[in-house]
Amino acid sequence: MEQFKGQPRLPKFAVPKRYDLKLKPDLVACTFTGTVDILLEIVNKTNFLVLNASELVFDRGSLCFIHHNNSSKEFRPVEVNLIEADEIAVFEFNEGLPVGEGSFKIEFNGILNDRMKGFYRSTYEHNGEKKNMAVTQFEPADARRCFPCWDEPAAKATFRITLEVPAELMALSNMPVIEDRSDGPLKTVSFQESPIMSTYLVAVVVGLFDYVEDHTPDGIKVRVYCQIGKSNQGKFALDVAVKTLGLYKEYFATPYSLPKLDMIAIPDFAAGAMENYGLVTYRETALLYDDQHSAAANKQRVAVVVAHELAHQWFGNLVTMEWWTHLWLNEGFATWVSYLAADSLFPEWKIWTQFLDEITEGLRLDGLTESHPIEVDIGHACEIDEIFDAISYRKGASVIRMLQSYLGAECFQRSLASYIKQYACSNAKTEDLWAVLEKESGEPVNKLMNSWTKQKGYPVVSVSVKGNKLEFDQSQFLSSGAHGDGQWIVPVTLCCGSYSAHKNFLLQTKSETMDISGLLGSQKWFKINVDQTGFYRVKYDDELAGRLRYAIEANHLSATDRFGILDDSYALSMACKQSLSSLFSLMSAYRNLLETEMVVLQFPSLNYLMLETLFRKLGWEPKESESHLDAMLRGEILTALAVFGHDITQKEAIERFRAFLNDRNTPLLPPDTRRAAYVAVMQTVSKSNRWGYESLLKIYRETDLSQEKTRILGSLTSCPDSDIVLEALNFLLSSEVRSQDAVYGLGVSREGRETAWRWLKDNWDHLLKTYGSGFLITRFISAVVSKFSTSEKAVEIEEFFASRSHPAITRTLKQSLERVHINAKCIKSVQEEKSLADVVKELAYRNY
Ligand code: BES
Ligand code: ZN
Repeated sequence: MEQFKGQPRLPKFAVPKRYDLKLKPDLVACTFTGTVDILLEIVNKTNFLVLNASELVFDRGSLCFIHHNNSSKEFRPVEVNLIEADEIAVFEFNEGLPVGEGSFKIEFNGILNDRMKGFYRSTYEHNGEKKNMAVTQFEPADARRCFPCWDEPAAKATFRITLEVPAELMALSNMPVIEDRSDGPLKTVSFQESPIMSTYLVAVVVGLFDYVEDHTPDGIKVRVYCQIGKSNQGKFALDVAVKTLGLYKEYFATPYSLPKLDMIAIPDFAAGAMENYGLVTYRETALLYDDQHSAAANKQRVAVVVAHELAHQWFGNLVTMEWWTHLWLNEGFATWVSYLAADSLFPEWKIWTQFLDEITEGLRLDGLTESHPIEVDIGHACEIDEIFDAISYRKGASVIRMLQSYLGAECFQRSLASYIKQYACSNAKTEDLWAVLEKESGEPVNKLMNSWTKQKGYPVVSVSVKGNKLEFDQSQFLSSGAHGDGQWIVPVTLCCGSYSAHKNFLLQTKSETMDISGLLGSQKWFKINVDQTGFYRVKYDDELAGRLRYAIEANHLSATDRFGILDDSYALSMACKQSLSSLFSLMSAYRNLLETEMVVLQFPSLNYLMLETLFRKLGWEPKESESHLDAMLRGEILTALAVFGHDITQKEAIERFRAFLNDRNTPLLPPDTRRAAYVAVMQTVSKSNRWGYESLLKIYRETDLSQEKTRILGSLTSCPDSDIVLEALNFLLSSEVRSQDAVYGLGVSREGRETAWRWLKDNWDHLLKTYGSGFLITRFISAVVSKFSTSEKAVEIEEFFASRSHPAITRTLKQSLERVHINAKCIKSVQEEKSLADVVKELAYRNY
């Protein structure tokens, strides 16, 4: 038995083929009982069956029957050992189980926990009565908390699920119902056998729901389930889902593989959404859209999340990663494809311009020494949670976009379709995808991409004019300004003087030159990394930077490129790789242009320079036929003005807020401006003037729209009074806030930072208990810690956590501390240029 301990993967002498799973949840006692009958194949003779199980109790009498040449023999385990440290159960037989098919039956029971993983309970109100629902969340490795199984993505099997539940409730699973038999107060619901799938995609939901329904042209039934009375709010997501299924069917050249698709809003949910095969679960904020009270940003979030989860139905569910090292294939891909879908459904959103956020956040994390490669080794199941991060999602999506733009959209799509066909109902590794792309394109995809997925970090490409040549030189970019020795194969793109004069090449060595003799005399501008499709930064020499400033002022560049130039320049300055004054002269070019694009203006230091102008342009009320992006920008700008204490905004916000308090349907405070108003109101709150705070709590308590609740939570701690901040932080941990939502309240005001840190320390044991077994705990650390900017604080934080180390927070803590050191260094260098004091103040606000 010892030989099975401490292993990251299960032994392979037996593999599961089919699970017959029966579950009977008790929604009052919050427990469940179950039986699983696993059809398996013994591949090598063995005295042991080893599978995953955790927090389960096994009833006596598990049996294994092995069928052999038409006969069947019964085996009883002589010993059953549950090894919690490895989350496995070892069944020992005193006689070797012979090679062949067998069926293995286990009875078990467990607890419907309230940690939002495994088989758990979520709560809701119905007719004024508090109720429990039972929900599963198995990714990455928590199916084992619901039933004993081979809980690894490569151990695909089919599932026949049966639920025994109170007759008045709805029972849902991955497949359609085949039988629904009532027997007194209980009913037994059986579901069709699924196609082969991984355990992490199995799902069950039991509770009371309303739904809206539609179907695709080829007859797939699509439903959106939500709390009773909210079904209108499901219509937008339903429409997006039906259209997206059609789109992906075309794009992947493979139809959706199940007969139905259900999507359901769960009131307590750790992630944003989960792509369970045929039964996708969501937070309410990511699925429900209310015409009256949701903002443009909420609408976009719903569309993008739905598109993301549906992408997984192909990329992840039909073709599954072989092991968690390849998680990024799932998440990076779904993230990238979701933009493709959203762009096709809502071209007016110009969603690709917002893909820049993905790239920037990827670059931000990957600029740390404490980053990790896209492909990560996994030693223990508890290490998987921490890689659902900006590297897997955002860097992953970014390098896919980079590759697509290098190979061309058509070739890329063709290759993907062929990859999906080749690996359907099976598993794939990163290099399997590269092999297909390489074959279809004839390009050295494997070599190119290995440099991006197997090493951490990314390059900054420095470009300079040398006579009639451009010189390109790559070195690793680190936000700390330190030296790194990574080297990449960089797909460099450039245009010269106009977007039609375009050149590409692969930078395969440290430096290379390019002849530009034909172009030099005309003093043209060069933009490298055209359209920001590459995952790297660019540093221009003074000459080229000057020409670019001119091009910006003359409006020759796209909004995407304008953003990219600014973001790179900002990051280079903060890493002390470029003078601050060159950043400021760049910024003045945007002011001269009178920048109006939301993507560019989201950049905090820039909108600070232009707030007044923008305010006059956008105002408080929506203009007729204004764009989605203008609506989003209005919210951002007003919020920024509120934070800066802009007088007119402040006063107007409070007036409009009063109107809203009297009438929640007043046209004076449309959803896109509410967060701004709430933040403005919180700027006025202090111990002696609590009106704003109390009023927001009143709205919080009265609304049943999650998006409204999270908007409020997001504003409470923005108060400059640290006593109020403390009160708000404590409110986050009260029974009035679902534990999934506390993280929304961590955007604490500058004045409240120290209070937040003290609060984190005081509540650490409680936080660890509530959030320690999932990824939400990391958000507390990064939000509170990474705002600081002195080395003394870093030491203090390190000391606090020295005796509180925990595998679930190790990586995040290191990353957050690295940020503190970077902030410290950055602020020191910024202070040296005193004349620019007020711009600097704002620069420091954005932490690099
Ligand atoms: N597979 C994930 C859900 C997940 C995340 C499970 C972390 C286990 C741990 C899902 O597809 C996902 O990525 N959801 C995102 C939303 C998406 C639009 C980026 C999320 O939860 O934030
Ligand atoms: Zn995902």
